[in-house]
Amino acid sequence: MDVTRAAAILDRNWLGSSTVPSRSLYPHQWSWDSAFIALGLRHLSPARARRELRTLFAAQWADGRVPHIVFDPGTPPEAYFPGPGFWRAGRTSGLVQPPVHARAVLAVHEAEPDQEFLAALYPKLVAWHDYLRTRRDAGGRGLVAIVHPWESGMDNSPAWDGPLARVTPSTGFVRRDLAHGDAADRPSDEDYGRYVRLAADYRDSGYRAFGEFVVEDPGFNALLADAELAMAEIADALGLPSSGHREAAARVAKALQETLWDSAAGFFFARDVRTGALTPAYTCAGLLPLVLPDLGVAPALLATATGPRFRLGQVHGVPSHDLTAADFDPARYWRGPSWFNVGWLVRQGLLHHGEHALADRLRDDLLATAEETGFAEYCDPFTGEGHGTRSFSWTAALTVDLLA
Ligand code: DGY
Repeated sequence: MDVTRAAAILDRNWLGSSTVPSRSLYPHQWSWDSAFIALGLRHLSPARARRELRTLFAAQWADGRVPHIVFDPGTPPEAYFPGPGFWRAGRTSGLVQPPVHARAVLAVHEAEPDQEFLAALYPKLVAWHDYLRTRRDAGGRGLVAIVHPWESGMDNSPAWDGPLARVTPSTGFVRRDLAHGDAADRPSDEDYGRYVRLAADYRDSGYRAFGEFVVEDPGFNALLADAELAMAEIADALGLPSSGHREAAARVAKALQETLWDSAAGFFFARDVRTGALTPAYTCAGLLPLVLPDLGVAPALLATATGPRFRLGQVHGVPSHDLTAADFDPARYWRGPSWFNVGWLVRQGLLHHGEHALADRLRDDLLATAEETGFAEYCDPFTGEGHGTRSFSWTAALTVDLLA
């Protein structure tokens, strides 16, 4: 495969200063999407990759948060729900998404060194991580808590079912996503009603008060620890002190292993901060700590990854949910299908932990599946059949990166 088709998708999805994940389903800029998109764009046009990230960070809030959506003023309000009118936060949403940006900024700089870009983004990244550390440690364990499933990026993950069940669904809104996606591939109406209720309550508190959904997600926190490792490299490149970033990464990694790791299960589970209990679902978020090079429990986690629940290397990509679970669904969003960004991240983890043959197999599978599905949003782990939207930007961008 060459990069032509993937590059053409990124060109079509480019708005002039940022990239939409999908022209139909997600017609604005999304936070973690943009970071993955920049990882691919850096090979095609480092200038465009820098622009993508600068555009996102131009919408950063004064408190340091990087909003999960930056709305495109040229897109009609009815194209996406909940749009800017719902959030009442100017041109952004008030939620966040996983902090993969420092890794993307560093990678873009490595593709074409640009000290000015790095120096401009560094303080913004510091403020972003400070926001997460100081305003989101709801459990007091040195981990970030997410306050909405959309913040995990894995909206309808079975790990959220318990905390989400306490939320009374909103009604009386029109889902725009169903006009562009198969209902069987998307979150249920009931879940959507709960997402809207949680977002509206958070908005009404001035984006301060946490509601019934407060969760320590191993995926989000692992990506923060990895982002701090990237920050240390950025600081080194800028001639700034970097040890504080390495220490921050080590603190998060330690808290993850001390509080979310279940040694009997060989897995990282999310914690419901409201009840204090770990949520029982084995989801792909629990595999993401593999991105950390110094993960003491990596051998046990790799055993789970290659065992019957995820069958890494034997199925397509990395299933988002336990293949043996009664509620595994191969088509429905984050309740089973394999997503390309998770595959990309887990591959990085496999490389860190010396699993080169498995990493190569995963890479080859991701590339073949991306092409065969028309760069689908996600795929059935058993058949490789594409689901969700097609010509999806991060699938295309990560394809470009894997081919580089
Ligand atoms: C959606 O619209 O489905 C997104 O995941 C919310 O950010």
